[in-house]
Amino acid sequence: MIQLTVNGKSRQFDGDPDMPLLWFLRDELQLTGTKFGCGMGLCGACTVHVNGAAARSCLTPMSAAAGTKITTIEGLAPKGEHPLQKAWKACNVPQCGYCQSGQIMQAAAMLKRKPKPSDHDIDSEMQGNICRCGTYQRIREAIKQAAGAKA
Ligand code: FES
Ligand code: FES
Repeated sequence: MIQLTVNGKSRQFDGDPDMPLLWFLRDELQLTGTKFGCGMGLCGACTVHVNGAAARSCLTPMSAAAGTKITTIEGLAPKGEHPLQKAWKACNVPQCGYCQSGQIMQAAAMLKRKPKPSDHDIDSEMQGNICRCGTYQRIREAIKQAAGAKA
């Protein structure tokens, strides 16, 4: 039996320990804000926090999630009012929206470590999160706004 905490709630899993965490979140807990993109660690759409650090849930087997604290986009802030979520709205970042929960989770983990990221910090931290709609400039602007920097 695998035990883990997801968005503050204790959860159990009794299936295949090799199953990706992404399936558990989406199919068993119905937390569908976390998206399936490539399934190979190449796009970042599935990004969640594992013990506070950004991780690709498509590449995280349930065995590796045992005993951890997982946060998904649904659990980032109680009412969707994380500074990044507010900035995302203010800057009209999303286009189709598919990549955006992963982008926000990646950025949120960075801001915890680096509250005032430079352009270089943002580019290097966010480079693994792909946006097919090309919203990269607005993403950068929103991260700066959330960090309290001049966009
Ligand atoms: S779905 Fe996980 S990195 Fe693309
Ligand atoms: S907003 Fe469409 S993929 Fe990023």
